[in-house]
Amino acid sequence: MSETAQDLDPLLATTFRGQWKERVRALSHLPTIFKIIWEAGAMFLVFGFLLRLVAATMPVALLGVTKVIIDNVAARHAARPVSPAFWWYVGLEVALAAISALLGRWNWYVDTVLADRFSRNLSVRIMNHASRLDLAQYEDAAFYDKLERARLQATDRVPMIAALGQIIQQAVTAISFCVGIFWYSPLLLIVLTLCLIPAFAGESHYAFLGYSLASRQTSVRRKVDYLRILGASKESAKELKLFSLSDFFTSQFRELSDHLFEQNRSLWRRRVVTGAALSLVTTAGYYSAYIYVVYRAIHGDISVGTLTFLSGSIAGASSSLQGIFSTFSNIADQTLFLSDLTKFFEVKPVLKIAERPRRAPLVIRDGFRFEQVTFRYPGSERPVLQDFDFHIAPGERVALVGENGQGKTTIIKLLTRLYDPTYGRILLDGVDLKEYDPESLFSVFSVLFQDFMRYDMEAEGNIAVGHISLANDENANREALLHSAADRSGASAVIERLPLKMKQMLGRRFEGGIDLSGGEWQKIALARAYLREAQIYVLDEPTAALDARSEFEVFERFAELTKGKMAVLISHRFSTVKMVDRIMVLKDGRIVEQGNHEELLALDGLYASLFELQAASYR
Ligand SMILES: Nc1ncnc2c1ncn2[C@@H]1O[C@H](COP(=O)(O)OP(=O)(O)O)[C@@H](O)[C@H]1O
Ligand SMILES: [Mg+2]
Repeated sequence: MSETAQDLDPLLATTFRGQWKERVRALSHLPTIFKIIWEAGAMFLVFGFLLRLVAATMPVALLGVTKVIIDNVAARHAARPVSPAFWWYVGLEVALAAISALLGRWNWYVDTVLADRFSRNLSVRIMNHASRLDLAQYEDAAFYDKLERARLQATDRVPMIAALGQIIQQAVTAISFCVGIFWYSPLLLIVLTLCLIPAFAGESHYAFLGYSLASRQTSVRRKVDYLRILGASKESAKELKLFSLSDFFTSQFRELSDHLFEQNRSLWRRRVVTGAALSLVTTAGYYSAYIYVVYRAIHGDISVGTLTFLSGSIAGASSSLQGIFSTFSNIADQTLFLSDLTKFFEVKPVLKIAERPRRAPLVIRDGFRFEQVTFRYPGSERPVLQDFDFHIAPGERVALVGENGQGKTTIIKLLTRLYDPTYGRILLDGVDLKEYDPESLFSVFSVLFQDFMRYDMEAEGNIAVGHISLANDENANREALLHSAADRSGASAVIERLPLKMKQMLGRRFEGGIDLSGGEWQKIALARAYLREAQIYVLDEPTAALDARSEFEVFERFAELTKGKMAVLISHRFSTVKMVDRIMVLKDGRIVEQGNHEELLALDGLYASLFELQAASYR
């Protein structure tokens, strides 16, 4: 048995202790659901509620009319006078039955519409909330997990909405039957209620236990889901084959899901056994009541119609109560997902926005300054940058070089205020970045990150998103701008080879999409960066996907295109950055050498040695 499977056993033990706190918490999310459903369609909700109310009283109304009809028929048989409205009653019965059937369809329609709107609104909420959060939160695995689950679970909520409507309807039906029973015999209602208590206790006990087991299983279920995806996905297929991992993952999956199954089955079994015993008690109670009613009927205390009404009401009340229990378990299951969702909505952005944010300067005069910046990633002890000082002036093009993991990308994340420094400050034109309006600050930059996006869109759209006002624009100038950006980045050559050129769908997700190589994607992404009218351009290590020659060309072009502008070029290759004004060599979170290529070679330090080393490998 694997470690995870063993972890589950204590879980099983605690489950049966059943904690009330957790049980009640199950329902604490219901107001949230109602709030979102309300936003999804207040009118529909009210309308649906009224429909349910009407539908709920139909069964008892039908029984009531049946009673009158039967009593009249009996009167006729006994040669007593029949109500003059007799045939009207028959007509009413038919009408009620028809209305009942129609209401059922309408309820379905209302539920479906509400559920669809609900999912849509929830997704919009999730997207809005997600967009307000910080990069740091996305890079936090636990948060990302929450987001993923919230997102997956936002869709297909029809069963939940339907169950909510249903439980209201069942409750009203049960109450209406009880009122009917009370009308004829208050004592009977009391007896019935008493024999219901054991069943109620048993059912609710197991409904809550089921809920609590399911919520304890969530982390294991997550792992099971992960294994299931891993076992059959495009991303994992290559390694799964070559490393022969399929059986390994499949057997893990099988083991964990069997374990979950065993836990559930043991609960199901107990539920069936206890449920059967308790339902015997209830049934005995019901039938005592029934016998009592029949007894009174045979002695002429009540009419045949009343007998029909009461026995129908007893059966109806019992079945709608049973229905309430099963719908309740259903709702409890469905609300499980809401705890993920509420946790996600509780996450608040960490980066503070100034009370009166400034707009970023239209023309930068002093440039960016890092002053004694120390930075640690959240949850990490080790500073990536330590007392880091750095200045880039307008019109200056600098290169950051250093081996992997020295903090080059981190500097860019700080520069663009995706993160705030742990200590020290970063200034733009003498003002702390924190003082600026984030959107306005972002508009100053054009950054091509190492891990840039590959949008599953047309080539054109992939470039146009670099300048979002162009993405929806249809003017002629747009074409020219897109093409010129593509020319500058070298994407034109890639696009020329595509069958549909700029209109070609890229990526594998959609039909007819064509996947590109890493370097080709990079050129498309670079076109996106060039399309932006930014004041500072940043290129973060295109080396990952490009060969040495392409990288050299990209850099040379970049240096040329950004002449007179601010630019930051990042590389771990020392031989390709010669063209910039100033090269900074990064080591252990500090700048250890800086100057132009010749100066650094003359210094004969780290740069010179690494340059030699790398140059030698190309000879
Ligand atoms: N989101 C993160 N959380 C924690 N540590 C990180 C994160 N991103 C990067 N690091 C760590 O910070 C250091 C610097 O990373 P990075 O700036 O990406 O280096 P470079 O770009 O120079 O290769 C590395 O040791 C890396 O492991
Ligand atoms: Mg990097």
